[in-house]
Amino acid sequence: MEFSSRAGGVGILGLGAVLPERAVSNDELAQRLDTSDEWIRTRTGIRERRYAAPEVATSDLAVAAARQALADARIAPEQLDWIICATTSPDNPFPATASRVQATIGAGRAAAFDLMACCSGWLYGVALLQGLIRSGSCRYGLVIGAEVLSRIINWQDRSTAVLVGDGAGAAVLGPVAEGAGILSILAGSDGDGYEHIIMPAGGSRMRATAETVAAGLNAFHMNGREVFKWAVRQVPEAADRALELAGLGVGDIDLFVPHQANLRIIEAAAERLGLPEERTWVNIERYGNISAACIPVGLYEARACGRLLPGQRLLTVAFGGGLTWAAAVMRWM
Ligand code: UT7
Repeated sequence: MEFSSRAGGVGILGLGAVLPERAVSNDELAQRLDTSDEWIRTRTGIRERRYAAPEVATSDLAVAAARQALADARIAPEQLDWIICATTSPDNPFPATASRVQATIGAGRAAAFDLMACCSGWLYGVALLQGLIRSGSCRYGLVIGAEVLSRIINWQDRSTAVLVGDGAGAAVLGPVAEGAGILSILAGSDGDGYEHIIMPAGGSRMRATAETVAAGLNAFHMNGREVFKWAVRQVPEAADRALELAGLGVGDIDLFVPHQANLRIIEAAAERLGLPEERTWVNIERYGNISAACIPVGLYEARACGRLLPGQRLLTVAFGGGLTWAAAVMRWM
């Protein structure tokens, strides 16, 4: 899917982000796993990640981020037409976590559903909402990326257990002035890589049993090396295409907000694109990989610390399980 509107017209009206308080250092993980701070830092860039308290579920983080985004946008919950929750770690396999959010925030008019595109989910949701808004079947929509990945860690596999954390980010989308908002957006998938990032059991292919749980199959599995090689190629390719659709060059971009899966992937992509460090957003050292929440949390923090200012142009790229990817160029308001 590709869309280009160099005139803008649909954009982000408000943002919210929530990270659980509990920070878990690499040293703390090394007490539980055969790993070290040195290995994790040098191979991934991660220093710590946040874990939600036991009583906190994905929808709790999603609701808090959604409330912030609505307040920021000055939009009442009753004005929402659609709520999309992008998550890989829903409260329950069904119904949708978005339905819980809808009831809790009091968005009585909104249709609500979850979107499963793993780490690309939030940008997939942005792509869908902008289409709905342009078509006239939505005025204001809420798209949330929320994860409690600490519940689906495979503690038998140190190569994935150290990577992930919990958190949520949300955005309200709606009509904006001409020239502002989403200038281009694309989303794609390559299902040949289906097995590379997977929870093997707990679905119709292999139902959850005591044996699957004991074998760690109801948890996160990844073929890290394959995903790494793919991402280093795919991220610059998607970014180049999003720029082309927007009619812009890399020199026009003020801030690059990539998915935070591995600092080495971010650095390789930025170098290939010719983007210097000061124009590349990185927060993986503090949060690890929070999947669908990475990009909205990144946007929220970049704006909060003055790295993303009105009038600036933003390039964002997500990638993950599916395999899936998505990229967008926006003019910030
Ligand atoms: O958001 C979804 C998208 N996900 C990604 O983009 C992730 C992409 N992949 C990666 O980020 C990296 O592949 C990993 C961080 C997952 C792994 O890094 P790597 O440099 O590819 O390591 P590797 O899997 O090739 O393993 C290298 C060595 C192995 O030991 P030997 O066989 O060389 O003796 C592993 O057993 O590192 C070992 N290792 C560890 N050692 C200490 C793997 N994990 C750990 C660990 N601590 N946590």
